[in-house]
Amino acid sequence: MTIRPGLPTDAAALAELAARTFRETFAADNRPEDIARHEAEAYGQTQQSRELADPDIVTLLVHSDDLLIGFAQLRRGPVPACVKDDAPIELWRFYIAKEWHGQGIAQALMHRVADDARRAHALTLWLGVWERNERAKAFYRKCGFTDVGSHVYMVGTDAQTDRIMTRAVVTSPPFSGLNENAHD
Ligand SMILES: CC(C)(COP(=O)(O)OP(=O)(O)OC[C@H]1O[C@@H](n2cnc3c(N)ncnc32)[C@H](O)[C@@H]1OP(=O)(O)O)[C@@H](O)C(=O)NCCC(=O)NCCS
Repeated sequence: MTIRPGLPTDAAALAELAARTFRETFAADNRPEDIARHEAEAYGQTQQSRELADPDIVTLLVHSDDLLIGFAQLRRGPVPACVKDDAPIELWRFYIAKEWHGQGIAQALMHRVADDARRAHALTLWLGVWERNERAKAFYRKCGFTDVGSHVYMVGTDAQTDRIMTRAVVTSPPFSGLNENAHD
């Protein structure tokens, strides 16, 4: 598995993966017309080319051999009022193809996201996740994100509630217990 920044030449593969993973995640729980409208607005080779060239967006691609299996995007832009921590950057998209879930790929990508956020001088990661996306919320909690509020997110004509979650870009190492030689 490799993780690298996206290039303009990745637009077609990214557009295909982005649309497929969006459908895999949300089609079963949303109206087909809302899914189709959102897909047409957000995904497609032209849109992904634009995003890959945008200096305010960092795109990271995960490959297994030559196969694109996941991607993440960090974006500088407006920040919801409930995000109070310093120097925030949005973890805008974070998708792994379904057949690769539960294999540690997402954790590796989250480490790389944090590295790139740090390089962009951000101190806080924030994201919006659909309130009904239980797997993603569980994953983000596992990665140290906590719920700080909500905002409305449009999927086609459907006004949905996204939970807003944040964490520090650099997290403390896990507590490994007291040193047995330590004194009071
Ligand atoms: C979100 C995503 C990146 C996480 O990657 P992953 O490989 O699935 O993550 P993990 O398996 O390590 O962690 C998911 C956790 O959710 C748990 N989980 C699975 N289904 C669940 C459910 N219905 N309700 C609650 N928890 C659930 C898993 O057991 C696991 O926790 P555990 O490791 O303690 O057992 C991946 O599932 C994905 O790409 N989903 C589709 C796209 C998406 O939703 N992206 C986020 C948009 S905001």
